Amino acid sequence: MSASPIPPLLNPSLLAGDHANLAVSADLVASLKLPWLHLDIMDGHFVPNLSFGPETLAALRRDGSKLFFDTHLMLSEPHRYIEAFAKAGSNLISIHIEPDYDHAATLARIRALGCQCGIVVNPGTPARAIETFLPAVDLVLIMTVQPGFGGQSFRRDMLPKIEQVHTWRQVRGLNFRLEVDGGIDLATAAECRAAGADTFVVGTSFFKAADKPAFAAAMAAL
Ligand code: DX5
Ligand code: ZN
Repeated sequence: MSASPIPPLLNPSLLAGDHANLAVSADLVASLKLPWLHLDIMDGHFVPNLSFGPETLAALRRDGSKLFFDTHLMLSEPHRYIEAFAKAGSNLISIHIEPDYDHAATLARIRALGCQCGIVVNPGTPARAIETFLPAVDLVLIMTVQPGFGGQSFRRDMLPKIEQVHTWRQVRGLNFRLEVDGGIDLATAAECRAAGADTFVVGTSFFKAADKPAFAAAMAAL
């Protein structure tokens, strides 16, 4: 199985940015000519943590950010917040498969509001849980940690799941992005790239990197 035909994309997670200066952290990403920004939205229920909400995205837009806002909703009831995040400036909205709500209708609503849509699976959820949604999404996000916190260790046991979804993509002629999120650094990104991933959410390793241009260049060369 060959690697993803989509070039590797470094997608910094603002969760690891400076929460007193989020616009500065977003501008840092833009200054490196990185097009995407990953926004982790947490409700203290689906995950045991809180982060930020639509007003933060809207404020970043008002501040002039032109980045592609990749919005990862870690919410028990994501369907209640789609309009708010679309209006706030999201370009792509991803929803988890695990909570019980109408996933297909919510993906369709995201598209109807002019955004791209994604489906997310937690480490404990098998790939087959999202199989029927693959033709309906622009992105599949495979969590490589249990979501809720940055700075956790990469789950190497997720590599077969990445390979499985990548194989389905190739065999079925689909062209969604295959994104990984959690514990990604240059070494684990290379492993995920070999398994078929193309879109790499990086929080801690990116914001802590002393030489960010070198980090970005190394990711682009994966
Ligand atoms: C985890 C979030 C991630 C997180 C990744 O709940 O979905 O996006 O920010 O952070 P690192 O790269 O530090 O594991
Ligand atoms: Zn995330």
